Amino acid sequence: MKNVLVTGGAGFIGCNFIRHLLEARQDVRVINLDALTYAGSPANLEDLPAPDRHIFIHGDIRDEELVDHVIMEHRIDTIIHFAAETHVDRSIAGPAPFITTNIFGTYNLLEAARKRWLGNPGMQAVKTRFHHVSTDEVYGSLAPDAPAFTESHPYTPNSPYAASKASSDFLVRAYARTYGLSITITNCSNNYGPYQFPEKLIPLALLNALRGEPIPIYGDGGQIRDWLYVRDHCAAILAVLERGEPGETYNVGGNNQPTNLQLVRKLCRILDDRLPNSPNVPHENLITFVVDRPGHDRRYAMDIRRIREQIGWEPQETLDSGLAKTVDWYLAHQDWIATILERPSYQEWLERNYRERGGS
Ligand code: NAD
Ligand code: DAU
Repeated sequence: MKNVLVTGGAGFIGCNFIRHLLEARQDVRVINLDALTYAGSPANLEDLPAPDRHIFIHGDIRDEELVDHVIMEHRIDTIIHFAAETHVDRSIAGPAPFITTNIFGTYNLLEAARKRWLGNPGMQAVKTRFHHVSTDEVYGSLAPDAPAFTESHPYTPNSPYAASKASSDFLVRAYARTYGLSITITNCSNNYGPYQFPEKLIPLALLNALRGEPIPIYGDGGQIRDWLYVRDHCAAILAVLERGEPGETYNVGGNNQPTNLQLVRKLCRILDDRLPNSPNVPHENLITFVVDRPGHDRRYAMDIRRIREQIGWEPQETLDSGLAKTVDWYLAHQDWIATILERPSYQEWLERNYRERGGS
């Protein structure tokens, strides 16, 4: 692994991963291809640990010519594919970019990798890898007492987002089986931590609480997610790249499954502790139940035995320690928050998603 193409590296997990990789490996050059959609920002790439080993390319993974050119020009041997449309609620409001980016964009990258790595005798001696970053949402929703998702759980995606990620997983798998492309896939649960765009539950709840605004909880708040601190996810991806079996899929999760309501209450208590003089204490009084997400998956839980036993990875942060770090990061990065709050597109999204949900 020398010349690594990271797609979506200006987004939440991608920018954390680039930091992690540049810190952990001194001999790697990162080429970061990102379209800078509403979710990506150059501000996420400030203060990188080794900026001289990072090249940013503003471009779209759906652009065939550009993708071919980048892989050739930078002699890419490893692709770590994060770029995607990622927000379930947006996929419900308008699925089109989820189909084009998550499915066609992934196909485009696979084709470029196939042409460059497999159709080129000069590349035969080079060790290559296409790593696809995917989600637990492809497995669908678990009944209350059902065992956690293993890697062989059937794919039953329920949202347009989940269906688009499932499709991309299948394409990656097909390129390995059909053409012999060296691939790995990680299916990960809900991430949280620094640089997460505040349309997702944790940063949205945090920012609303800081401003004394209602914290919207969909439905009864009894839905369960398996929360993982983002740097733990980054370590898992690097471990799979270096020690994973080509062709294999690994589940990644945090080993904790609070309900949304429990999670948000925990977050509010950390804020109460950090800001005892705030007029919004106790912050949990801001919790407001709103109309549920259509098709809302009730429960996810990940069985992470394969990655633990075969690769030796497991999460380092507990939910308490990860949430505390996250709150502290947001409190210390008011400028980053301000640049997002000022964007008209962010305010438009809040208006669009929450206007008709009401509150009780
Ligand atoms: P994000 O929405 O924060 O960032 C996505 C990034 O991709 C942005 O920088 C955006 O500009 C870029 N992008 C979008 N469309 C693009 C295109 N057509 N061409 C180039 N760049 C484009 O997402 P995230 O939360 O960091 O998620 C990254 C990956 O991890 C996704 O593939 C997602 O499905 C997966 N994942 C996320 C989570 C999670 O909890 N956030 C959990 C499991 C898996
Ligand atoms: O499980 C992995 C997935 O986690 C990733 O693949 C997705 O990219 C990522 O967005 C995330 O999906 P979720 O839909 O689980 O995340 P979100 O933060 O949007 O919602 C988390 C839970 O909180 C979910 O049950 C819906 C609920 N929720 C969300 C929002 C935005 C609320 O109750 N209120 C809200 O305002």
